[in-house]
Amino acid sequence: MATPIVTIDGPSGSGKGTVSRAVASIVSWHRLDSGALYRLVALVGREQGLAPDDVKRHAEAALAMDVSFLEGPEGERVLLGGQDVTAELRSESAGAGASRVAAWPQVRQALLERQQAFARPPGLVADGRDMGTVVFPRAEVKIFLTASPEERALRRYKQLKDKGSGVSLAALSREIAERDARDTTRRAAPLKPAPDAHVIDSTGLAIEEVVGRVLTLGRSRSLWP
Ligand code: C5P
Repeated sequence: MATPIVTIDGPSGSGKGTVSRAVASIVSWHRLDSGALYRLVALVGREQGLAPDDVKRHAEAALAMDVSFLEGPEGERVLLGGQDVTAELRSESAGAGASRVAAWPQVRQALLERQQAFARPPGLVADGRDMGTVVFPRAEVKIFLTASPEERALRRYKQLKDKGSGVSLAALSREIAERDARDTTRRAAPLKPAPDAHVIDSTGLAIEEVVGRVLTLGRSRSLWP
């Protein structure tokens, strides 16, 4: 039987990372943070000094990069060629770079199999923009998580501030709006709910409530007890 998959897609700041991490941990499934892979491609491109519009070499870099995700005492760490790049990946500029390279079909194609290889027993919780539409179209449960733009900007702001970043809320709101626009209007795998996705608007909801809803959906499909 194929490995069961739950996908959680949505825009930046919708809470999909936090929710998927919590669900995966509660049911002891694997997790894929697909956004981290796009962030890594942008980072590698910058480190290798690639021209910002060199699609071909960014796609080659996406295929070749040596990535591992580690669960440590301070949460998940991302290693690139054995080096911890977690902090660099989290910045809003890494997110903006990611959304630029993510618009290129060649880069998306280069990351496709790598993402699908995360599906291992007992199951996978995958979060991103196109998990339910493109990467795992046969997922057992698909969630599309949204929240108002104001709330998403505020959540990202708090997250970044906790990590010691001096970014302003106004600048962040602007960057998130730009990233949303780019992610939803691009031709390759634009951000949109799969036809069979459960849409959850998390505006005003506590993270526990959203996690609870996802757990209930999985239970109703007998994915876990
Ligand atoms: O989710 P995260 O904010 O880390 O994603 C960074 C960027 O990577 C997004 O703005 C989006 O452009 C891109 N992305 C994507 N497809 C995914 C995950 C992320 O295009 N599955």
